[in-house]
Amino acid sequence: MDYDRIFADRIEGLKREGRYRVFADILRARGRFPHATLKTPEGEREIVVWCSNDYLGMGQHADVIAAMEGALSGAGAGSGGTRNISGTTRFHVELEGELADLHGKEAALLCTSGFVANEAALSTLGKILPGCIIFSDALNHASMIEGIRHAGCEKHVFRHNDLAHLEELLRAAPAGRPKVVAFESVYSMDGDIAPIGAICDLARKYGALTYLDEVHAVGMYGARGGGISERDGVQDKVDIIEGTLAKAYGLVGGYVAGSAAFIDVVRSFAPGFIFTTSLPPVITAGALASVRHLKVSQAERERHQERAATLKHKLAEAGLPVMMSESHIVPVMVGDPVRCKALSDALLTDHGIYVQPINYPTVPRGTERLRFTPSPLHDDGLMDRLVEALGDVWTRIGVADAA
Ligand SMILES: Cc1ncc(COP(=O)(O)O)c(C=O)c1O
Repeated sequence: MDYDRIFADRIEGLKREGRYRVFADILRARGRFPHATLKTPEGEREIVVWCSNDYLGMGQHADVIAAMEGALSGAGAGSGGTRNISGTTRFHVELEGELADLHGKEAALLCTSGFVANEAALSTLGKILPGCIIFSDALNHASMIEGIRHAGCEKHVFRHNDLAHLEELLRAAPAGRPKVVAFESVYSMDGDIAPIGAICDLARKYGALTYLDEVHAVGMYGARGGGISERDGVQDKVDIIEGTLAKAYGLVGGYVAGSAAFIDVVRSFAPGFIFTTSLPPVITAGALASVRHLKVSQAERERHQERAATLKHKLAEAGLPVMMSESHIVPVMVGDPVRCKALSDALLTDHGIYVQPINYPTVPRGTERLRFTPSPLHDDGLMDRLVEALGDVWTRIGVADAA
């Protein structure tokens, strides 16, 4: 059998649909973010990164880098094992304590990524609770969907942020069965925000646990960076909070925070947590510095919100179809995968502006977009250049009809 032929045919299909992903080979220069160097077959060039999820630029922060350098020279490179077999270091333990405190929960558990944290926690919940039913928001992230799938339990999808639909589904479910309502706070593609308190009240009314993904909010919202649940004063209503160290905290890794009993069950039963080497001490030390810094410093959060509002305003003034999201995410709607890629290519080639096209399956077909993530380090000059460049490629590529 010609296996490579089968693989190539599948890739051809992606290319025909304009969904084939090309990775940009970039090198960030410490201290110069959002500037970076792009490597292409033709050579190297300077670019400005406009689509990084290092939302606050913490991946460049002096305290974070100093902590990582200290851990590297003090403890060495890798952790040396799974959490159970020699891979639990003092940094892991301290970081879990810091994260539990951040969310006002009894305990927290680190995983190697936010994806793994969602998969591990949701699949375990569905397997451990006999007869469990999971109620999942229609726009939940792929990692939550994967966790729910692996849970192997009954699942109901409620319309995005639709309280009435959620209640209808909860009401129809047998009262005696365990239930979990799984949703996100900031939805990262449209930048809209869930009514967390109201969802939790509804869940409580029907005896359901609440599971909240705050991946696109931790570090950025709330007085200590506890996310939207902290900002809205509803942290206590949420049973389980899941987050990442890879976005606002600038590193890599994920976690869940909740009751001590829940954390113990994930620690003891989730294959995605158990059977893999733990995060290196250098990462956990950096994350510890980042989480601690953002617990007390408001400067990054304030500037971040101001930058996002300014960019939305500038794009709207230029007549570009920016979605006026209520968060830091700045999507510009294109509505066609091929044009979306063409716009992104032209921005990079002609203007040195890097924004990756967002196509299906990350967003529904017909809602393809460019998704800008201005950080505190994107100044007015960079924004003006972006708006001008986008206006230029928009006119040339002629997507106005599709928007
Ligand atoms: C909502 C949501 N949850 C979880 C994840 C996974 O987080 P990580 O990148 O840490 O694996 C992502 C990643 O983009 C996400 O958008």
